[in-house]
Amino acid sequence: MLLKWAGGKSWLTKNHPQLFHSKESITSRAFANQPSIKFKRYIEPFLGGGAVFKYMKPNQTSILADINDELIGFYNELKNHPTKLYKLTKDHMGKHSEDYYYQIREIDNFENNLERAARFLYLNRTCYNGIYRVNSKNKFNVPIGDSKDFNVAEDQFINYSTLLKNAKIVKQDFRKTIEHASRDDFLFIDPPYVTKSNQSSFDMYSANQFNWNDQIELSDILQSKNEDGVNIMVTNINDKDIAKLFRKKDGWNHIALNRANVMSYNAEGKKYKEIVFKNF
Ligand SMILES: C[S@@+](CC[C@H](N)C(=O)[O-])C[C@H]1O[C@@H](n2cnc3c(N)ncnc32)[C@H](O)[C@@H]1O
Repeated sequence: MLLKWAGGKSWLTKNHPQLFHSKESITSRAFANQPSIKFKRYIEPFLGGGAVFKYMKPNQTSILADINDELIGFYNELKNHPTKLYKLTKDHMGKHSEDYYYQIREIDNFENNLERAARFLYLNRTCYNGIYRVNSKNKFNVPIGDSKDFNVAEDQFINYSTLLKNAKIVKQDFRKTIEHASRDDFLFIDPPYVTKSNQSSFDMYSANQFNWNDQIELSDILQSKNEDGVNIMVTNINDKDIAKLFRKKDGWNHIALNRANVMSYNAEGKKYKEIVFKNF
């Protein structure tokens, strides 16, 4: 993965691949390699580190979106200028030290979008836990972390760029992205984990907070897309108030799970911390 992202879903694709497969391929247990859900377009409104997009590798048109402007700028540069981005980022990594990190973190005027994207990736890979947090002036303020590795090859940038070639990558609010979904599209939804009783804990992503009202509005919009025949998968915290937003009688399957490779269809099971709601 090029980016480290809080709440990243590579554990989901790695430990629970069956979620991304049709009933037929699960029955024949032929799901080891290629995901087999059929869909028209791939749409992901809360993109973050994009672990699921990378796993699905859609050939079809995709819409990838997030509210984080720097993140979206980074993906667009990766798509259009992978080699230049690799070189600039490698240059940062070669100079990495505590002083250099804080010096680069201070910069907020850029020659061009490519420089901004390279700074974003450098800080993402060297900051504390890959967290993206800004202060009230929208300035990145995460301290340095202890990771010094940058084991990525130029090929990784080029391959990722190829994967993005049919993707429209936009900075926008989830409401606008989901609006585009129509029958037979696939919507993968991974919002910030906010519950009714804990609305303020999550400031890891951007100055724009996602709160309980957003969570309710999101589920209402998804219910209407469910009725329109869009294939939808939602991940969230296994929490009773959240579970109530996706009613089984409306066709939502509740699949409680852990990050590790154990699974249960009993959403009430306390030990499962995460939940997936699927309408297919
Ligand atoms: C849990 S993360 C997604 C993680 C991603 N699935 C991955 O594998 O890395 C949630 C993302 O939602 C974004 N976000 C927060 N509020 C948003 C909003 N109102 N509209 C769109 N994106 C938003 C954050 O910037 C963050 O990248």
